Amino acid sequence: MTRQALSVASECVPLVKTGGLADVVGALPGAMAGQGWALRTLLPGYPAVLKQTGQGTIVWSDDDLFGGPASLRAMQAAGLDLLILDAPHLYSREGQIYLDTNGRDWPDNPKRYAALSWVAAAIADGALPDWRPEIVHVHDWQAALTPTYLRMRNAQTPTLLTVHNVAFHGNAPAEWLEALRLPADRFTAVGFEFYGQISALKAGLVDATAISTVSPTYARELLDPSFGMGLDGVIATRASVLHGVLNGIDTAIWDPATDPLIKPYKTPRGKARNRAALIETFGLEAGAEDGPLCIVVSRLSDQKGLDILAEAVPRLLEAGGMLALLGSGDPVLEARFQDLADAYPRVGVRIGYSEPLSHQMFAGADAVLVPSRFEPCGLTQLYGLRYGAVPVVARTGGLADTVIDANTMALNAGVATGLQFGPVTAEALGHALDHLVALYRQPAVFARMQRNGMAQALGWGPSAAVYADIYAKLTG
Ligand code: ADP
Ligand code: GLC
Repeated sequence: MTRQALSVASECVPLVKTGGLADVVGALPGAMAGQGWALRTLLPGYPAVLKQTGQGTIVWSDDDLFGGPASLRAMQAAGLDLLILDAPHLYSREGQIYLDTNGRDWPDNPKRYAALSWVAAAIADGALPDWRPEIVHVHDWQAALTPTYLRMRNAQTPTLLTVHNVAFHGNAPAEWLEALRLPADRFTAVGFEFYGQISALKAGLVDATAISTVSPTYARELLDPSFGMGLDGVIATRASVLHGVLNGIDTAIWDPATDPLIKPYKTPRGKARNRAALIETFGLEAGAEDGPLCIVVSRLSDQKGLDILAEAVPRLLEAGGMLALLGSGDPVLEARFQDLADAYPRVGVRIGYSEPLSHQMFAGADAVLVPSRFEPCGLTQLYGLRYGAVPVVARTGGLADTVIDANTMALNAGVATGLQFGPVTAEALGHALDHLVALYRQPAVFARMQRNGMAQALGWGPSAAVYADIYAKLTG
């Protein structure tokens, strides 16, 4: 018999995406269906989402959901079973989902997502006439108050909180206790108080029945003060229910043999036409003695370590490499890469967000660079593996778990898939890039690495089975 679960998140592919969270939330229902679990996904009714899903059927409503009327619309769309929280006072806005048109966080973000969590708790506690989940799987701070609201209702539905990034806490000033409908007596160090503020993520870490994160290494790192972002102590108290479950990728969407956005190929050699197209798209000055064409597809934020890449770019170019970057975010980093593109004809930069271009970049690239300071899982190194773009990654989090470093042993054994480096400094990255170029100049060795990556199992199967085990344990 199929069992029922509610998945709650702030973004979900293909409807709305700012990062890897959306890829994972969008892929989980398909992955879990194979494990006998039907996932319904609860999302905020941003205008772009409602436009794609249509109006559906109203299954619940409330005259005053954190300051305005709200309804819950049920529909099947984009291959997903959806519950969309239509609350115009919270979600119907210009700008990005988290940011206003000036790029600043919406000041009421804590309230916008508290409302989402409030409704998730209501659903889990029987608010819908004909459907009730056995478990609620909540993602990141935006859904992390769900377990707390369930606890306030004395509801027994088990919850799993998946931490995709511990850097984002969803903090609100203490004065917002009432506005967020939270009990003052739990605004303490053992509750959801965090340095004088209300922390949605901490609430979830304390109250969820179990916690997971998106790679085994990041699960260990979360217990370490240098990665825990102040929450390592709290997480340590929950270590017995903490799981590290590696993300998969959607191997149907990300398949170089069938991808409609590229010139399809099955072997590293087949990448050549895509490589030539990419050089043209970015207007790179290429020559016969070219080194590897490296790409970055990323949010431009401190997490991603791209400032050290900017420092290492001259070294990459000297060795013969090229760089094409697609990203947006921090204006300082945007300007810095734009300057590099202006200064060097072998560097191309696109500031913006483009799903099709990202596919073309993985298809055309020889290498993908991911020099993150921390990386809970990381998906671009996985897309790189699948598309024969050799990943060069910082040895941290999910990057360490998914890339086999081309050290002498691994090369001799013929199992290497990429390069790892550490610490995250321009010097260590530069060294790895020199190594990359040297490997690239040995075509047989390089092609072997590409083939290894392309053959790696990157789908959701094994991790879906682990989630199913966790769901089964939690639901008894
Ligand atoms: P994070 O979620 O921390 O941003 P991940 O590597 O897990 O990092 O996921 C990032 C996702 O967003 C990937 O699917 C990546 O391809 C995509 N992405 C990031 N920046 C861009 C961009 N500028 N254009 C297109 N896709 C992007
Ligand atoms: C977060 C992390 C990233 C991870 C993604 C999906 O955005 O930064 O490492 O891959 O979530 O879990």
